[in-house]
Amino acid sequence: MAIASDAFIPDLIQLSAMTQPTIESILQEDRVFSPPAEFSKTAHIGSFEAYQGLYDKANADPVAFWEELADKELDWFEKWDTVLDWQPPFVKWFEGGKLNISYNCLDRHLKTWRRNKAAIIWEGEPGDSRTLTYAQLHREVCQFANVLKGLGVKKGDVVGIYMPMIPEAAIAMLACARIGAPHTVVFGGFSAEALRDRLVDGKAKLVVTADGGFRKDKTIALKQEVDKALENDGAPTVENVLVVQRTKEDIHMDSRRDHWWHELQKDASADCPPEPMDSEDMLFILYTSGSTGKPKGVVHTTAGYNLYTHMTTKWIFDLKDDDVYWCTADVGWITGHSYIVYGPLSNGATSLMYEGVPRPSNPGCLWDIVEKYGVNIFYTAPTAIRALIKLGEHLPNARDLSSLRLLGTVGEPINPEAWMWYHRVIGKERCPIIDTWWQTETGGVMITPLPGATPTKPGSATLPFPGILADIVDLEGNPVDDTSGGYLVVKHPWPGMMRTVYGDPDRFRRTYWEHIPPKDGQYLYFAGDGAHKDKDGYFWVMGRVDDVISVAGHRLGTMEIESALVSHPAVAEAAVVGRPDEIKGEEIFAFITLEADVEPSDALKNELKQHVTGEIGAIARPGEIRFSDALPKTRSGKIMRRLLRSLASGQEVSGDTSTLEDRSVLDKLRSGA
Ligand code: WT7
Repeated sequence: MAIASDAFIPDLIQLSAMTQPTIESILQEDRVFSPPAEFSKTAHIGSFEAYQGLYDKANADPVAFWEELADKELDWFEKWDTVLDWQPPFVKWFEGGKLNISYNCLDRHLKTWRRNKAAIIWEGEPGDSRTLTYAQLHREVCQFANVLKGLGVKKGDVVGIYMPMIPEAAIAMLACARIGAPHTVVFGGFSAEALRDRLVDGKAKLVVTADGGFRKDKTIALKQEVDKALENDGAPTVENVLVVQRTKEDIHMDSRRDHWWHELQKDASADCPPEPMDSEDMLFILYTSGSTGKPKGVVHTTAGYNLYTHMTTKWIFDLKDDDVYWCTADVGWITGHSYIVYGPLSNGATSLMYEGVPRPSNPGCLWDIVEKYGVNIFYTAPTAIRALIKLGEHLPNARDLSSLRLLGTVGEPINPEAWMWYHRVIGKERCPIIDTWWQTETGGVMITPLPGATPTKPGSATLPFPGILADIVDLEGNPVDDTSGGYLVVKHPWPGMMRTVYGDPDRFRRTYWEHIPPKDGQYLYFAGDGAHKDKDGYFWVMGRVDDVISVAGHRLGTMEIESALVSHPAVAEAAVVGRPDEIKGEEIFAFITLEADVEPSDALKNELKQHVTGEIGAIARPGEIRFSDALPKTRSGKIMRRLLRSLASGQEVSGDTSTLEDRSVLDKLRSGA
């Protein structure tokens, strides 16, 4: 297998070679939009001065800043002894404290008028729907927590969740949190292979899944993938599988291992006191792609994550008691964890969940839902916006979108044209737009406008959240304040930051703390993004500088896809790069050399694409494959991806090619021979 060793730090992409958005296009952007006065009047943070005041206060004493908020905003069973214990790169927040995030998301609201407020409004793709009040959600969570306990799940046991976008996904997460069993949610679009890798790495004891889910007018067969992942003792730690009945399609149930959710749930007691968790007890593992090797298990813990998602949700989405809030992400990603489930529920908000996506049979479904439920806050991804632009203005124009008051984006840089469309066609030039930069690793949003306070510029995530000391530096850690751009770093620990890579603290250190050495004793968290600051100090994120590709906002490591390709017997060598794509941001482009006796053909290209789908999931399916009899390498044998990136995007190969071992390779690749 061609999985490269993780022991080295990969070369970073040269900032000058980054494709989107270019520094030139950023410097030309001079439109500025002030927060609408009406919005600012009632906003939590209602002026730029108020933001600056908070920012300066946090900057002057981050520990006091977070301590005050922890005290005011969360419920604790026991208060902490120490606020911050920073032994770089390992951090502990609120040590000695005891709390439970499911208590903060549920129980504490039951004592207030929110008891009968909608916690989750859910819309299924076929048009069925369900609303769970805080009291009802609490009951379901307690019952399911008892189901888990009944199957032997104890505090510290990891539970895999592989679900469609149905309320049971959130119920399962909260039930795990309630009994102290860390969850690891695996996106339902991942294949059995990818699921198995994650269950094995996390040593999951139980898997929660469904017979299937509805997506794009089809059903996705989830239980079948779980069966495949577990066959031949594929994930030996898994003892039980719980199955939600959703599609009612025929599935195989193994009586020794598989149980129907509804059968166990109906008899389970609704009495389940929340486990008092230590602040630093693990809340969940979420796997994300890196530039090398297998996906890493990003570990988040209880108190810091609860506080950080709570505060960011409150201030960035400017939540009001009667808001209907909708984040279109899937719970399989960090956005779903932080901004569908934990952040909104900790604030007592109404969080809308939708099972489906726009599709030919219903291209206007998102706007139907906005109209049907009177959605006030809408949070989605640039790739979705670009797809919606393609579908046409007539769709949103035919619906009543007047309930909307705030729009957000996340996942990748948003191009100014898409930003302007969102502003004009969806927000009717009345809703602030928050472009939120963050990562699985950061737990919550890091760089973002506060909608009542920060003037926005199309394409810029603007300024750091209070308490976040973000900066742009060169590889030595020196600040880069001119227009040339540099690497995005964070200089002070924050409560929501990841604690480690599950089972591999060394990888945590190498990936995030060694590209850029500590500067004057200060450790710099390396985010893996290239960025640029403008004259107002606004951040413009340009994209990944490592070998991570973002396809429709989903992060994929080139090496993972290459490993999947070379596991096919026809493939000798594979190199994968991203190519700019109008809607998806980037598309996967694979250069492949075949084994000596294999003939290239279109049929083989399709077979290889299918093979990657099977190994990882449809999101990793290459958009284009090019066969070649050699790949461009340096004399030491390193593949020169920079050249491949230029070739894939049809650009002239520029820059230094003197280290190329065999120059004729380039001509052959160009001609596609
Ligand atoms: C990477 C993190 C955080 C939830 C979704 C993705 C890119 C994210 C933005 C933004 C420019 C962005 C970065 C980052 N990214 N938000 N507003 N502007 N780029 O989470 O899968 O952990 O990916 O997404 O490249 O490093 P993720």
